[in-house]
Amino acid sequence: MEGTDVKVAIVEGDGIGHEVIPPTRDLLGILRPDFEYIPVDVGYGKWERTGQAMSDDDFAILASADVILFGAITTPPAPDYQSVIVRIRKELDLYANIRPVRGTGVDIIVVRENTEGLYSGIEKIEADTACTVRCITRKGSERISRYACKLAAQRRDITIGHKANVLKSDVFFRDICIAEARKVNIPVRECYIDALCLDILQHPEKYDIIVTTNMFGDILSDVAAYLVGGLGLLPSGNVGERHALFEPVHGSAPDIAGRNFANPVAAMRSAALLLSHIGDQKSAGLIDQAIENTFSKGIRTRDLGGTAGTDAFAEHVREELVKLTGKL
Ligand code: NAI
Ligand code: MG
Repeated sequence: MEGTDVKVAIVEGDGIGHEVIPPTRDLLGILRPDFEYIPVDVGYGKWERTGQAMSDDDFAILASADVILFGAITTPPAPDYQSVIVRIRKELDLYANIRPVRGTGVDIIVVRENTEGLYSGIEKIEADTACTVRCITRKGSERISRYACKLAAQRRDITIGHKANVLKSDVFFRDICIAEARKVNIPVRECYIDALCLDILQHPEKYDIIVTTNMFGDILSDVAAYLVGGLGLLPSGNVGERHALFEPVHGSAPDIAGRNFANPVAAMRSAALLLSHIGDQKSAGLIDQAIENTFSKGIRTRDLGGTAGTDAFAEHVREELVKLTGKL
Protein backbone atom coordinates (compact mmCIF):
# COMPACT_ATOMS: atom_id res chain seq x y z
CA MET A 1 0.00 0.00 0.00
CA GLU A 2 1.76 3.16 -1.17
CA GLY A 3 0.95 6.58 -2.58
CA THR A 4 -1.83 9.06 -2.60
CA ASP A 5 -4.74 6.68 -2.22
CA VAL A 6 -3.99 5.79 1.41
CA LYS A 7 -6.87 6.87 3.67
CA VAL A 8 -6.02 7.38 7.33
CA ALA A 9 -8.91 7.86 9.78
CA ILE A 10 -7.87 9.97 12.77
CA VAL A 11 -9.76 9.46 16.04
CA GLU A 12 -8.72 11.67 18.95
CA GLY A 13 -11.36 10.12 21.21
CA ASP A 14 -11.53 11.46 24.76
CA GLY A 15 -9.31 12.90 27.49
CA ILE A 16 -5.61 13.03 26.60
CA GLY A 17 -6.48 11.68 23.15
CA HIS A 18 -7.15 15.35 22.30
CA GLU A 19 -3.62 16.26 23.40
CA VAL A 20 -1.51 13.40 22.02
CA ILE A 21 -3.17 12.76 18.66
CA PRO A 22 -2.98 16.24 17.01
CA PRO A 23 0.84 16.49 17.31
CA THR A 24 1.12 12.88 16.14
CA ARG A 25 -1.05 13.66 13.12
CA ASP A 26 1.35 16.56 12.40
CA LEU A 27 4.30 14.16 12.22
CA LEU A 28 2.39 11.96 9.76
CA GLY A 29 1.56 15.05 7.70
CA ILE A 30 5.25 15.99 7.47
CA LEU A 31 6.25 12.50 6.36
CA ARG A 32 3.25 11.62 4.21
CA PRO A 33 1.50 14.74 2.89
CA ASP A 34 0.20 12.48 0.12
CA PHE A 35 -2.12 10.55 2.45
CA GLU A 36 -5.73 11.51 2.99
CA TYR A 37 -6.45 12.19 6.69
CA ILE A 38 -10.07 11.93 7.81
CA PRO A 39 -10.99 13.08 11.33
CA VAL A 40 -13.69 10.97 13.00
CA ASP A 41 -15.34 12.04 16.25
CA VAL A 42 -16.30 9.07 18.40
CA GLY A 43 -16.24 8.38 22.12
CA TYR A 44 -17.74 9.22 25.45
CA GLY A 45 -17.67 12.97 24.76
CA LYS A 46 -19.74 12.37 21.67
CA TRP A 47 -22.10 10.14 23.65
CA GLU A 48 -22.62 12.92 26.20
CA ARG A 49 -23.38 15.41 23.42
CA THR A 50 -25.45 13.24 21.09
CA GLY A 51 -26.49 10.14 23.04
CA GLN A 52 -24.43 7.97 20.66
CA ALA A 53 -20.72 7.21 21.10
CA MET A 54 -20.28 6.12 17.49
CA SER A 55 -22.84 6.59 14.71
CA ASP A 56 -23.23 4.20 11.78
CA ASP A 57 -21.67 6.89 9.56
CA ASP A 58 -18.64 7.14 11.87
CA PHE A 59 -18.24 3.39 11.76
CA ALA A 60 -18.57 3.37 7.96
CA ILE A 61 -15.68 5.86 7.67
CA LEU A 62 -13.52 3.75 9.99
CA ALA A 63 -14.38 0.65 7.98
CA SER A 64 -13.53 2.36 4.67
CA ALA A 65 -10.15 3.69 5.86
CA ASP A 66 -6.96 1.77 5.08
CA VAL A 67 -5.62 2.43 8.55
CA ILE A 68 -6.84 4.16 11.72
CA LEU A 69 -4.86 6.24 14.20
CA PHE A 70 -6.75 6.15 17.48
CA GLY A 71 -6.25 8.13 20.69
CA ALA A 72 -8.21 6.66 23.58
CA ILE A 73 -11.80 6.52 24.65
CA THR A 74 -13.29 6.82 28.09
CA THR A 75 -15.46 3.85 28.97
CA PRO A 76 -17.56 4.49 32.06
CA PRO A 77 -18.21 1.24 33.94
CA ALA A 78 -21.97 1.64 33.36
CA PRO A 79 -24.04 -1.45 32.51
CA ASP A 80 -25.73 0.18 29.47
CA TYR A 81 -22.59 1.61 27.82
CA GLN A 82 -20.85 -0.56 25.26
CA SER A 83 -17.10 0.03 24.88
CA VAL A 84 -16.44 1.68 21.50
CA ILE A 85 -12.93 0.30 21.09
CA VAL A 86 -14.08 -3.23 21.91
CA ARG A 87 -16.86 -2.85 19.30
CA ILE A 88 -14.43 -1.55 16.65
CA ARG A 89 -11.96 -4.37 17.31
CA LYS A 90 -14.74 -6.92 17.01
CA GLU A 91 -16.61 -5.50 14.01
CA LEU A 92 -13.45 -4.82 11.98
CA ASP A 93 -12.17 -8.22 13.12
CA LEU A 94 -8.88 -6.78 14.38
CA TYR A 95 -7.88 -10.09 15.84
CA ALA A 96 -4.23 -9.46 16.69
CA ASN A 97 -3.23 -6.89 19.28
CA ILE A 98 0.50 -6.29 18.92
CA ARG A 99 2.28 -4.55 21.77
CA PRO A 100 6.03 -4.09 21.38
CA VAL A 101 7.82 -3.36 24.67
CA ARG A 102 11.28 -2.04 23.93
CA GLY A 103 13.92 -0.43 26.10
CA THR A 104 17.40 -1.11 27.47
CA GLY A 105 17.74 -4.91 27.72
CA VAL A 106 14.07 -5.39 26.82
CA ASP A 107 12.73 -6.35 23.40
CA ILE A 108 9.44 -8.16 23.83
CA ILE A 109 6.33 -8.25 21.66
CA VAL A 110 3.10 -9.19 23.39
CA VAL A 111 0.70 -10.72 20.85
CA ARG A 112 -2.74 -10.67 22.40
CA GLU A 113 -5.86 -12.27 20.96
CA ASN A 114 -8.21 -9.35 20.55
CA THR A 115 -11.71 -10.54 19.67
CA GLU A 116 -12.80 -13.26 22.10
CA GLY A 117 -11.82 -14.80 25.44
CA LEU A 118 -13.17 -12.99 28.49
CA TYR A 119 -14.00 -9.94 26.35
CA SER A 120 -16.31 -11.88 24.04
CA GLY A 121 -19.26 -9.87 25.41
CA ILE A 122 -21.27 -12.96 26.37
CA GLU A 123 -22.47 -11.83 29.76
CA LYS A 124 -25.47 -11.68 32.01
CA ILE A 125 -26.31 -10.20 35.35
CA GLU A 126 -29.13 -11.77 37.36
CA ALA A 127 -30.31 -11.02 40.87
CA ASP A 128 -27.50 -12.75 42.73
CA THR A 129 -25.17 -13.89 39.99
CA ALA A 130 -23.14 -12.18 37.29
CA CYS A 131 -21.58 -14.29 34.60
CA THR A 132 -19.07 -13.61 31.79
CA VAL A 133 -18.34 -16.41 29.36
CA ARG A 134 -14.72 -16.98 28.35
CA CYS A 135 -15.07 -18.22 24.81
CA ILE A 136 -11.95 -19.46 23.00
CA THR A 137 -12.37 -20.74 19.44
CA ARG A 138 -10.15 -22.87 17.25
CA LYS A 139 -10.24 -20.23 14.51
CA GLY A 140 -9.30 -17.44 16.96
CA SER A 141 -6.50 -19.47 18.53
CA GLU A 142 -5.07 -20.67 15.22
CA ARG A 143 -4.91 -17.26 13.65
CA ILE A 144 -3.34 -15.54 16.67
CA SER A 145 -0.73 -18.26 17.03
CA ARG A 146 0.05 -18.09 13.30
CA TYR A 147 0.48 -14.33 13.62
CA ALA A 148 2.87 -14.86 16.56
CA CYS A 149 4.80 -17.50 14.60
CA LYS A 150 5.14 -15.14 11.62
CA LEU A 151 6.69 -12.51 13.91
CA ALA A 152 8.89 -15.10 15.67
CA ALA A 153 10.24 -16.33 12.32
CA GLN A 154 12.23 -13.07 12.07
CA ARG A 155 13.19 -13.21 15.76
CA ARG A 156 13.76 -15.94 18.38
CA ASP A 157 10.94 -17.86 20.04
CA ILE A 158 7.43 -17.89 21.43
CA THR A 159 6.21 -18.10 25.01
CA ILE A 160 2.55 -18.99 25.55
CA GLY A 161 1.03 -17.25 28.57
CA HIS A 162 -1.94 -19.22 29.94
CA LYS A 163 -3.67 -20.69 32.97
CA ALA A 164 -4.18 -24.21 31.65
CA ASN A 165 -3.82 -25.66 35.15
CA VAL A 166 -7.22 -24.14 35.99
CA LEU A 167 -9.00 -23.25 32.75
CA LYS A 168 -10.04 -25.89 30.20
CA SER A 169 -10.34 -23.11 27.63
CA ASP A 170 -6.61 -22.48 28.08
CA VAL A 171 -5.71 -26.16 27.65
CA PHE A 172 -7.44 -25.79 24.28
CA PHE A 173 -5.64 -22.50 23.49
CA ARG A 174 -2.23 -23.78 24.55
CA ASP A 175 -2.46 -27.00 22.55
CA ILE A 176 -3.38 -25.10 19.39
CA CYS A 177 -0.49 -22.63 19.87
CA ILE A 178 2.00 -25.46 20.40
CA ALA A 179 0.74 -27.31 17.32
CA GLU A 180 1.02 -24.18 15.15
CA ALA A 181 4.55 -23.40 16.38
CA ARG A 182 5.70 -26.99 15.78
CA LYS A 183 4.34 -26.90 12.20
CA VAL A 184 6.73 -24.06 11.37
CA ASN A 185 9.57 -25.09 13.67
CA ILE A 186 9.42 -22.10 15.98
CA PRO A 187 10.84 -22.81 19.46
CA VAL A 188 7.93 -22.61 21.87
CA ARG A 189 7.55 -22.79 25.65
CA GLU A 190 4.72 -22.09 28.04
CA CYS A 191 4.30 -20.28 31.31
CA TYR A 192 1.41 -19.73 33.73
CA ILE A 193 0.27 -16.18 33.26
CA ASP A 194 0.58 -15.20 36.94
CA ALA A 195 4.13 -16.51 37.15
CA LEU A 196 4.86 -14.79 33.84
CA CYS A 197 3.75 -11.40 35.24
CA LEU A 198 6.51 -11.66 37.84
CA ASP A 199 9.16 -13.33 35.70
CA ILE A 200 8.86 -10.78 32.89
CA LEU A 201 9.82 -8.11 35.45
CA GLN A 202 12.71 -10.12 36.91
CA HIS A 203 14.10 -11.65 33.72
CA PRO A 204 12.82 -9.67 30.73
CA GLU A 205 15.72 -10.87 28.55
CA LYS A 206 14.22 -14.39 28.56
CA TYR A 207 11.21 -13.26 26.55
CA ASP A 208 10.82 -12.54 22.84
CA ILE A 209 7.28 -13.09 21.47
CA ILE A 210 4.58 -13.75 24.06
CA VAL A 211 1.24 -15.02 22.76
CA THR A 212 -1.77 -15.01 25.03
CA THR A 213 -5.53 -14.60 25.30
CA ASN A 214 -7.43 -11.33 25.45
CA MET A 215 -7.59 -10.30 29.11
CA PHE A 216 -4.27 -11.88 30.08
CA GLY A 217 -2.61 -9.92 27.27
CA ASP A 218 -4.30 -6.74 28.41
CA ILE A 219 -2.92 -7.15 31.93
CA LEU A 220 0.51 -8.46 30.92
CA SER A 221 1.20 -5.55 28.59
CA ASP A 222 0.49 -3.01 31.34
CA VAL A 223 2.79 -5.01 33.65
CA ALA A 224 5.50 -5.04 30.98
CA ALA A 225 5.14 -1.27 30.59
CA TYR A 226 6.90 -1.00 33.95
CA LEU A 227 10.10 -2.29 32.33
CA VAL A 228 10.41 0.59 29.92
CA GLY A 229 9.13 3.67 31.73
CA GLY A 230 5.38 3.35 31.88
CA LEU A 231 2.24 3.65 29.80
CA GLY A 232 3.21 6.95 28.22
CA LEU A 233 5.70 5.14 25.98
CA LEU A 234 3.90 2.03 24.74
CA PRO A 235 2.31 1.82 21.29
CA SER A 236 0.08 -0.91 19.92
CA GLY A 237 -1.39 -2.21 16.71
CA ASN A 238 -4.76 -3.92 16.28
CA VAL A 239 -4.48 -5.84 13.07
CA GLY A 240 -6.87 -7.99 11.04
CA GLU A 241 -6.93 -9.34 7.48
CA ARG A 242 -8.39 -6.17 5.97
CA HIS A 243 -8.24 -3.44 8.62
CA ALA A 244 -5.70 -2.08 11.08
CA LEU A 245 -5.90 0.38 13.96
CA PHE A 246 -2.94 1.84 15.85
CA GLU A 247 -3.28 3.32 19.33
CA PRO A 248 -1.32 3.96 22.50
CA VAL A 249 -1.70 1.21 25.11
CA HIS A 250 -2.83 3.84 27.61
CA GLY A 251 -6.38 5.08 28.03
CA SER A 252 -7.87 8.57 28.16
CA ALA A 253 -6.20 9.38 31.52
CA PRO A 254 -8.94 11.62 32.95
CA ASP A 255 -6.70 12.38 35.97
CA ILE A 256 -4.30 14.41 33.79
CA ALA A 257 -6.51 15.32 30.81
CA GLY A 258 -6.46 18.96 29.72
CA ARG A 259 -3.37 19.81 31.79
CA ASN A 260 -0.65 19.50 29.13
CA PHE A 261 0.99 16.67 31.14
CA ALA A 262 0.41 13.72 28.81
CA ASN A 263 3.37 12.00 27.20
CA PRO A 264 2.72 11.87 23.44
CA VAL A 265 5.40 9.22 22.76
CA ALA A 266 3.03 6.22 22.90
CA ALA A 267 0.80 7.88 20.29
CA MET A 268 3.79 8.87 18.13
CA ARG A 269 5.22 5.35 18.26
CA SER A 270 1.76 4.06 17.30
CA ALA A 271 1.98 6.25 14.19
CA ALA A 272 5.38 4.67 13.47
CA LEU A 273 3.78 1.20 13.71
CA LEU A 274 1.05 2.42 11.34
CA LEU A 275 3.64 3.52 8.79
CA SER A 276 5.51 0.19 9.04
CA HIS A 277 2.24 -1.64 8.60
CA ILE A 278 1.63 0.06 5.26
CA GLY A 279 5.19 -0.68 4.18
CA ASP A 280 6.85 2.69 4.85
CA GLN A 281 9.60 1.48 7.20
CA LYS A 282 11.69 4.53 6.40
CA SER A 283 9.17 7.06 7.73
CA ALA A 284 8.49 4.80 10.73
CA GLY A 285 12.20 4.81 11.55
CA LEU A 286 12.32 8.61 11.26
CA ILE A 287 9.59 9.04 13.88
CA ASP A 288 11.38 6.66 16.27
CA GLN A 289 14.65 8.50 15.63
CA ALA A 290 13.11 11.94 16.21
CA ILE A 291 11.79 10.70 19.59
CA GLU A 292 15.21 9.24 20.51
CA ASN A 293 16.94 12.51 19.55
CA THR A 294 14.53 14.42 21.78
CA PHE A 295 15.23 12.07 24.71
CA SER A 296 18.97 12.33 24.16
CA LYS A 297 18.73 16.09 24.65
CA GLY A 298 17.32 15.33 28.12
CA ILE A 299 13.80 16.49 27.27
CA ARG A 300 11.11 14.49 29.05
CA THR A 301 7.51 14.80 30.15
CA ARG A 302 6.56 14.62 33.83
CA ASP A 303 5.72 10.89 33.88
CA LEU A 304 9.41 10.27 33.09
CA GLY A 305 10.66 12.74 35.68
CA GLY A 306 11.03 15.70 33.31
CA THR A 307 9.34 19.07 33.16
CA ALA A 308 8.30 19.37 29.51
CA GLY A 309 4.60 19.78 28.79
CA THR A 310 2.92 17.78 26.03
CA ASP A 311 3.11 20.73 23.63
CA ALA A 312 6.77 21.52 24.27
CA PHE A 313 7.85 17.88 24.04
CA ALA A 314 5.88 17.36 20.85
CA GLU A 315 7.35 20.52 19.35
CA HIS A 316 10.89 19.19 20.00
CA VAL A 317 10.02 15.92 18.27
CA ARG A 318 8.56 17.84 15.34
CA GLU A 319 11.73 19.93 15.03
CA GLU A 320 13.92 16.81 15.18
CA LEU A 321 11.80 15.21 12.48
CA VAL A 322 12.05 18.30 10.30
CA LYS A 323 15.85 18.20 10.72
CA LEU A 324 15.97 14.50 9.83
CA THR A 325 13.81 14.89 6.74
CA GLY A 326 15.09 18.30 5.70
CA LYS A 327 11.44 19.34 5.20
CA LEU A 328 9.86 22.46 6.64
P1 NAI B 1 -5.09 5.16 31.68
O1 NAI B 1 -4.11 4.46 30.80
O2 NAI B 1 -5.93 6.20 31.03
O3 NAI B 1 -4.30 5.84 32.90
C1 NAI B 1 -3.56 5.08 33.87
C2 NAI B 1 -2.54 6.01 34.55
O4 NAI B 1 -1.45 6.27 33.63
C3 NAI B 1 -3.10 7.36 34.93
O5 NAI B 1 -2.53 7.78 36.14
C4 NAI B 1 -2.66 8.26 33.80
O6 NAI B 1 -2.51 9.61 34.18
C5 NAI B 1 -1.33 7.65 33.40
N1 NAI B 1 -1.09 7.86 31.95
C6 NAI B 1 -1.74 7.21 30.94
N2 NAI B 1 -1.28 7.66 29.77
C7 NAI B 1 -0.36 8.60 30.02
C8 NAI B 1 0.45 9.43 29.20
N3 NAI B 1 0.39 9.39 27.85
N4 NAI B 1 1.29 10.29 29.79
C9 NAI B 1 1.38 10.36 31.14
N5 NAI B 1 0.65 9.58 31.98
C10 NAI B 1 -0.22 8.71 31.43
O7 NAI B 1 -5.99 4.05 32.33
P2 NAI B 1 -7.27 4.18 33.28
O8 NAI B 1 -7.11 5.30 34.21
O9 NAI B 1 -7.47 2.81 33.78
O10 NAI B 1 -8.47 4.47 32.31
C11 NAI B 1 -8.97 5.75 32.01
C12 NAI B 1 -10.04 5.64 30.95
O11 NAI B 1 -9.47 5.19 29.72
C13 NAI B 1 -11.15 4.62 31.30
O12 NAI B 1 -12.38 5.16 30.91
C14 NAI B 1 -10.79 3.41 30.46
O13 NAI B 1 -11.92 2.65 30.14
C15 NAI B 1 -10.19 4.07 29.24
N6 NAI B 1 -9.26 3.22 28.49
C16 NAI B 1 -9.37 3.23 27.13
C17 NAI B 1 -8.51 2.52 26.33
C18 NAI B 1 -8.67 2.60 24.86
O14 NAI B 1 -9.39 3.45 24.35
N7 NAI B 1 -8.02 1.75 24.11
C19 NAI B 1 -7.45 1.69 26.93
C20 NAI B 1 -7.37 1.77 28.37
C21 NAI B 1 -8.27 2.51 29.12
MG1 MG C 1 -5.46 -2.13 29.02
